[in-house]
Order: sequence, then C-alpha cells, then structure tokens
Amino acid sequence: MTWRKTITAKSLRAAGASSVRVGDEVIYIAAVGDKLYAINGVCSHAKCILGILETDSLRTKCQCHHAEFNLTDGKMVVPPYVAPNILMDKLTLKVYPVREEKGFIEVDT
Ligand code: FES
Repeated sequence: MTWRKTITAKSLRAAGASSVRVGDEVIYIAAVGDKLYAINGVCSHAKCILGILETDSLRTKCQCHHAEFNLTDGKMVVPPYVAPNILMDKLTLKVYPVREEKGFIEVDT
C-alpha cells in the first residue's frame, strides 16, 4: 500500500468530486462536508467513468445507466436502469483510504 498524491484539496472542494487517474486505476474522490471518500472510478456494470455526486445520500451515480454506489463501502445500491434485476452484490466497487496531506488529496492504493 502506498499513499499517492492526486489533485489539490482546493480543487476537489471546489468541484465536490473528481475522477482521477492513479497509476493504472481511475479513482473517484469526493469531498462531502469535512469528510473524504475514494472508490474505484470505473462503473462495475459496463465500465463507464463515474461522475455524478449525490451529496445528500453519500452516493455517486454512473452517467451511463444511472447505477448508484455508496461512497462509504462501494456497494451498488441502485441498479442500472437497463438491468434492473442485476446481482448488485457482485458489483461492489473497491474503496480506498483517502486523506488530505499538505494541500493535496492522497489515496492509499
Ligand atoms: S455503465 Fe454504469 S450503470 Fe451502466
């Protein structure tokens, strides 16, 4: 496990959330209130990049078919509208430790 520097904390807080490339991975990072969240940024349904932050429910919604994932544990909590009966338990995304360090957001991969 290695802490990797990503974007500035200032830019993340201005945007609310961002998908960033970290090595070979895309990680979706969100700042909600004073907490940070980081989950795999590639949707487990059909590999779209995650991008819509739902701050009131601590979820991110996939732009392609609107599956929703819990930011705290990576679980799919709403299925894609094109596959309402999909086995959501098998589509959980990896979550990562995340922190702010010297003005930057770091993710432990
Ligand atoms: S690719 Fe994300 S819901 Fe289909």
